[in-house]
Amino acid sequence: MIRTLYMRIAIVIFIVVWCSLAISSLTFTHYYRNQLNNRVEGLLQNAAKLVIRLIQETETQQVGQTVTIAGRLSRGQELYLYDDSGDSYMSRPSASSKCTIPPETIRHVLDGGSYSSFQDGESVMCPQGNVGVSFEYGGKHYALFVTSVTPTQTLRFGFLDYRNLWTIILIGAFMIVLAAVYLVRPLKQITAVTEKIAAGNFDVQLRFKQKDELGKLAASITHMAGELKKMEKMRQEFVSNVSHDIQTPLTSIRGFSKLLQQDTLDSEERIGYLKLIESESERLSRLSENLLKLASLDSEHHPYHPKPIQLDEQLRRAVVASEPLWSGKRLDIELELEPVRIVADEDSLSQVWTNLLHNAIKFTPEGGRITLSVSMDEKKGTVVSISDTGVGIAPEDRQHVFRRFYKADESRQMSPWSGNGLGLAIVKKIVELHGASISFTSELNQGTTFVIQFPSKS
Ligand SMILES: Nc1ncnc2c1ncn2[C@@H]1O[C@H](COP(=O)(O)OP(=O)(O)O)[C@@H](O)[C@H]1O
Ligand SMILES: [Mg+2]
Repeated sequence: MIRTLYMRIAIVIFIVVWCSLAISSLTFTHYYRNQLNNRVEGLLQNAAKLVIRLIQETETQQVGQTVTIAGRLSRGQELYLYDDSGDSYMSRPSASSKCTIPPETIRHVLDGGSYSSFQDGESVMCPQGNVGVSFEYGGKHYALFVTSVTPTQTLRFGFLDYRNLWTIILIGAFMIVLAAVYLVRPLKQITAVTEKIAAGNFDVQLRFKQKDELGKLAASITHMAGELKKMEKMRQEFVSNVSHDIQTPLTSIRGFSKLLQQDTLDSEERIGYLKLIESESERLSRLSENLLKLASLDSEHHPYHPKPIQLDEQLRRAVVASEPLWSGKRLDIELELEPVRIVADEDSLSQVWTNLLHNAIKFTPEGGRITLSVSMDEKKGTVVSISDTGVGIAPEDRQHVFRRFYKADESRQMSPWSGNGLGLAIVKKIVELHGASISFTSELNQGTTFVIQFPSKS
């Protein structure tokens, strides 16, 4: 088990370097075999020629000795000399000679022929290759064999002898460690920052100059920390909003209960206080109902059972259900409902109309008008609009109305109308669940129109 990234990188680079050396060596061997063989053969032929010239030019009587000395002087080659009478001379003691030349080959060369292991098939006896040349000197026939003793591998990669290789590996290892430090340092910084984030400190900055993957990772971690910070702020706000919304009705209920304990109250006052207690408890239960609904909508498990429904009928039912509210304010209700069928979750969609209708009623002064319309269009799909002639939404509030707990004007939030600012947040969630969109237009003191648009095929 490799525990540090340094080691992991170092080992991986080692393996890669070794493998590439091995593969490239094999590939070179394969592709340059002929060229290398020609080169080695040329070297051996040249050496043979030189030795023959040496013998001829020095006019020596000691042919065998000359060959032995010449062989000792030459690096990487062995010389074998045979003469007609069967005498042989070798440049090295035969114990170290790896090469035994078959008698028929010697005979062939003595008879004036020539031999090359590179041309006539690789010799098993002389694996590094050898050549044989015949020459005449002092009236005698000789056969001179020159054999390469340098391993072919070294000839191929002469620069890679063991000392070189170890130097390369040592320098390489040192550089690999440096590279690993360079690569791992940003990761260490990233780890330190993520540990801070895990401990709840979102004020972190991780800015690398590099624009590579690590730079991008650092940027996205900084971004994530920013988002987490925002979410944490929202969570705190949410908790304080909920606590406030629970505390307010509870305070009223406690106050009215205290008042009710007085003996001096007449029955009218008593009933008044009891009604206030009732409405405050309703407000509390609405709050918990809405919170539960939002939590359910936020989760992946909100019940969603789409089926074909008659949309105009559903809108009509919502209007009828809220009749006590609008008739109490003497509001004029106008319906422009085309028969339209859509596929939707009946229960949650009915909540949308109830919330929007209740807002319209709540924010429209007595004698105002509320218009509900539904129409279907090939291009636009199904469009529902709910408009009122109410107080409107101020421009500075428009971007916030869908936020949880947002109430544009607290002073208007009087019991029994007081909401908790969750209605539109729920509406938006449900609308999005249906793949539809919601928008509104509003004019202060003129009215507001909410429009919900279902895509063509819903
Ligand atoms: N039809 C409307 N006319 C005027 N203002 C509205 C209307 N509907 C919503 N709003 C504004 O949007 C805010 C949020 O609405 P909502 O989420 O339903 O909360 P609530 O009804 O509990 O106050 C309201 O407090 C109100 O200021
Ligand atoms: Mg509302």
